[in-house]
Amino acid sequence: MSSPGGSPGAPDSDPSANPPSTVRLPNPGGMRHLWQERRTSTMAVDQSGVWRFRELLPIVRDVDRVVTLREGNTPLYEMPQCAALAGVDWLLAKHQGMNPTGSFKDTGMTAALSVAVERGFQWVACASTGNTSAAMAAYAARAGLRSIVFIPDGKIAWGKLSQSMDYGAMTVQLKTDFDGCVRLLLELVRRFPIYLLNSVNPYRLEGQKTPALEIVEQLEWQVPEHIVVPGGNLANSSALGKGFMEMKHLGLIPRVPKISVIQAQGANPLYRWFNDSNREMKPVAAETRATAIRIGNPASWKKAARVIEQMGGWCEQASEQEIALAKAEIGAEGVGCEPASAVTLAGLKKLVAQGRVTREERVVLVLTGHTLKDSQYTIAYHRGELLTAAEMAGATPAEAASHAALRKPPIVLEADEAVVLRALEPYMHAARLTQPV
Ligand code: F0G
Repeated sequence: MSSPGGSPGAPDSDPSANPPSTVRLPNPGGMRHLWQERRTSTMAVDQSGVWRFRELLPIVRDVDRVVTLREGNTPLYEMPQCAALAGVDWLLAKHQGMNPTGSFKDTGMTAALSVAVERGFQWVACASTGNTSAAMAAYAARAGLRSIVFIPDGKIAWGKLSQSMDYGAMTVQLKTDFDGCVRLLLELVRRFPIYLLNSVNPYRLEGQKTPALEIVEQLEWQVPEHIVVPGGNLANSSALGKGFMEMKHLGLIPRVPKISVIQAQGANPLYRWFNDSNREMKPVAAETRATAIRIGNPASWKKAARVIEQMGGWCEQASEQEIALAKAEIGAEGVGCEPASAVTLAGLKKLVAQGRVTREERVVLVLTGHTLKDSQYTIAYHRGELLTAAEMAGATPAEAASHAALRKPPIVLEADEAVVLRALEPYMHAARLTQPV
């Protein structure tokens, strides 16, 4: 069966073969001004934090027909409490969970879905640990396309599962893990004209490079020393690396930051590769409660490895206990994120302790998903039902004390004035007004 504009489901070769440098571009100052000015436009394509940078995304013929939910333009938060916990003076969080479907996947999906539409595909598909499927389902629905998602049964957060149903995708829960879902999906797209939207799709990476542009734009074109990202299928680290390297190439920034990738200890093939003297990649059987990054055989590992090697940076891992603590610490700063995003803070603490990141370095954590994606995890943590005794046994005394201080289990009371006052009075003694009313 023939398919519109190419072989079924097979995305084109990497668009970096045709780098933006071959496109006629204004000078760096002109581009910065243009991108800034678009923020005040009322056009959807200008309001998108991805298509605002369209000079660096020469992937669609008609930019007025792109599929956008006004993704991107996410906040860069100062994180003084987490900075102190990690041992650095200056820490920021680029919160990609503030995208329309609650994760960084939207920036890639607007790009790749727009290409699918231009090529006339009726169906799109992906295998996912939950966020890609949520994003794909939403953008497909906006474009009037049908979507099919393969997800590991019982191993994705409910918020994400509910999203793909809400946006009308055909949701297939398979009794396997993410890596098994990918294998089966490849069989499906080989047989039918379905556009494959997994992160091997090069257009996704083009969209996912734009947070790199936003970070430096938000810092008035200053380049931080270090970017810390979670690693699962390893597309995000590659995409951000590409964004920074292209900016340097175009004279928008004088140098690139280091990029470090943090994995969950139970799903750590890149960490093992990094510490292997032969630098061999060996897939692992993945297991972690940070289900977004429960991936043992990452598709884009070579690109991520190249980014770490070319830009500098490290690969670290975080235990279940360390991830839970870091997530609670990010939550306690009023920001919040999903478990997979919290590996960044857990990993940064280790990089600082090892002397790989110095106190003076300006570090940006990339928080990839919203805290509401996995509220079950958060509730279990605060109720003290998440971590096993064996996992807690691995905590240092300081970590154990932090867990105890951070846990805020809900208090269930009779709706009676005396009962409520008696229960809360001991806490109220600590309440002081710092400002006169
Ligand atoms: N953080 C979150 C919240 C994710 O959903 C993912 C990946 C990652 C980090 C890792 O990014 O794969 O580019 O290294 N989620 C994919 C999905 C696999 O299907 O939603 P990566």
